[in-house]
Amino acid sequence: TVLVVDFGAQYAQLIARRVRECNVFSEIVPSTMPAAEMLAKRPKAIILSGGPASVYEKGAPIAPDGLFDLEVPMLGICYGHQVMAQALGGTVENSDVAEYGGASVAVADPGMLFEGLPGEQAVWMSHRDFVSRAPAGFTVTASTEVTPVAGMENRERGFFGVQFHPEVLHTEHGMEILRRFLYEGAGCRPSWTMVNIADESIEAVRERVGSKRAICALSGGVDSAVAAALVQRAIGDRLTCVFVDHGLLRKGEPEQVEKDFVAATGVNLHVVDARERFLAALDGVTDPEQKRKIIGREFIRVFEEAAREIVGGAEGEPVEFLVQGTLYPDVVESGGGTGAANIKSHHNVGGLPEDLRFELVEPLRTLFKDEVRRLGEQLGLPAEIVWRQPFPGPGLGIRIIGAVTRERLAVLRDADAIAREELTRAGLDRDIWQFPVVLLADVRSVGVQGDGRTYGHPVVLRPVTSEDAMTADWARLPYDVLQRISTRITNEVREINRVAVDITSKPPGTIEWE
Ligand code: XMP
Repeated sequence: TVLVVDFGAQYAQLIARRVRECNVFSEIVPSTMPAAEMLAKRPKAIILSGGPASVYEKGAPIAPDGLFDLEVPMLGICYGHQVMAQALGGTVENSDVAEYGGASVAVADPGMLFEGLPGEQAVWMSHRDFVSRAPAGFTVTASTEVTPVAGMENRERGFFGVQFHPEVLHTEHGMEILRRFLYEGAGCRPSWTMVNIADESIEAVRERVGSKRAICALSGGVDSAVAAALVQRAIGDRLTCVFVDHGLLRKGEPEQVEKDFVAATGVNLHVVDARERFLAALDGVTDPEQKRKIIGREFIRVFEEAAREIVGGAEGEPVEFLVQGTLYPDVVESGGGTGAANIKSHHNVGGLPEDLRFELVEPLRTLFKDEVRRLGEQLGLPAEIVWRQPFPGPGLGIRIIGAVTRERLAVLRDADAIAREELTRAGLDRDIWQFPVVLLADVRSVGVQGDGRTYGHPVVLRPVTSEDAMTADWARLPYDVLQRISTRITNEVREINRVAVDITSKPPGTIEWE
C-alpha cells in the first residue's frame, strides 16, 4: 500500500486515486497518526499531501515524530514538500508573491523524478510559502520564477519533494512524475487491477463470513448492487437481499431490482412492499430534515422486521452479517472528525440503531465510485445498474418540495421519466453526473394550454456535472434537449404547466433541493 498523509489537503482524495490509477493500492491516513502505526501498515511509499497551513505557524500540522526515520520512500507535495524541507533542516519562507494556478517550472537537474521529461513544464501551483533552501543532501531539481526549490530530491534516502501538484490535470506531466516516484523511487509494482480486486474481495468475504448467513439491503443503486453481487459470489445462497419498496423510487426502478438484478446474479431476493407505510409516516410533513429522518427511521424498521422474518424462516439459522455498500469517500469523511457542518442527514449513514445485531461486511470500503463501477462490470452486472446515476436514499421524497402524497409522486415520476428518457436519447447519460427533477408542489403558476387557462405546478430540472458530488456545476444541456424535455413534460404530464432549469452550482446550492 501507499499511504497518503493528509495535512488537510483539498487534494488528498485525488492523490489517493491517482496512485490507484497507477495500479498501486493507496489509502489516506491523518497526519496525526503516529509513525509506528503507519509503519505497521507496511507501506511501500508515503506521500505527504498539501494543506492550508504554514509550517512555521503555531499549531500547524507537522510530520509525526520519527516519520523521516522509517526508511520508507517519500514524496512531499506542496505543504508536504515544505514539511519535509523543514523537518530535514531546509528553510521555508513566506513570500509576498503567491503562486496560484498555472506556472512553468524549469528543470535544473532531472534527478529521478523528471528523468526523460521536458526541461520546461506547465504545472499547477497553489501556495504562498516556499522552500528557499533545500536540506543538506538534497539536489534542487526544479524551480520557477518565484519558487527557487520547486523540486528537490535525496535519492539515497528515497526522499522527493515538489512544490506543485502532480495530481491535478493541469500539471502536464503530473502522472508521469507520480509514476516515476512509485515505480522507480519506491519500487512499487502496478499489480492492483480490477480482476485482483474482485478475486481478493470475494476470497476475503468468504473467509470472514464462513458458513454463516448474511443479509443486504438493496437500494437499486450501484453501490449496494455491486456489494451484494460480490458477496453473492462469495457465499451464494447464504446471502439474502432485502429490497424495501418505499414508494419513493423512480419509474421502472423496482422492476429493475426485481428482474434485472436477480437475472444477472441469481441472488435470493426478499421484496417488502412498504409503500403505504412510508406514505402514512410522511403524511403532511414538509420540513426536509424531518422527511429525511422519517424515511431513514422507517427504512431501518422495515429492514429489521424483514431481517427477523428471514432469520426465523431459515431453519433457525441466525443471520449474522449485514452487507453494506459503503465506499471509501464515506469512510474517509466519517473518520475525518473535522467537525464538518451537518448540511443534510443522509439516510444510509449513521442511521443504524445502537443495538445492531449484525456484524458489518463492507466489501467496497476501500474503493472509489468509478472503481466500484468497473468492479460491477467485472462481476457481470448489467450496464443499466452499473452506470446508474446516483440517487438519494430518501428518493423522490426529497424532490417534492412540500408534503409527499401519492398523487404528487405519480406526477413527479412521470416528469422524471421523460427527462431521463430524453437524456439517454441524447447520449448524455455518462456526461451528466445526476439529473434530479424537482416538483414544486406548493407553487402554482398560470398557464395557457389548449385555449384554456391552467393553474398548474412547475418542475425544476437540475442536471449537474460533478466528480464526487462534493462540488458540482450546473450542466450546460443543449437547448434542443431541454426544449424536448420541456415540451414533452408539459404535454404529457397534466398537472405540470411550467418547466424551469436550475443554474446554481454547488456551492452555494446543493444538488438536491432538500
Ligand atoms: P447534495 O444534495 O447534498 O447531495 O448536494 C450530494 C449527493 O448525495 C446524494 N444524496 C444522498 N444519497 N442518501 C444517499 O444515499 C441521502 O440521504 C442523500 N441525500 C443526498 C445526492 O443525490 C447527491 O448525489
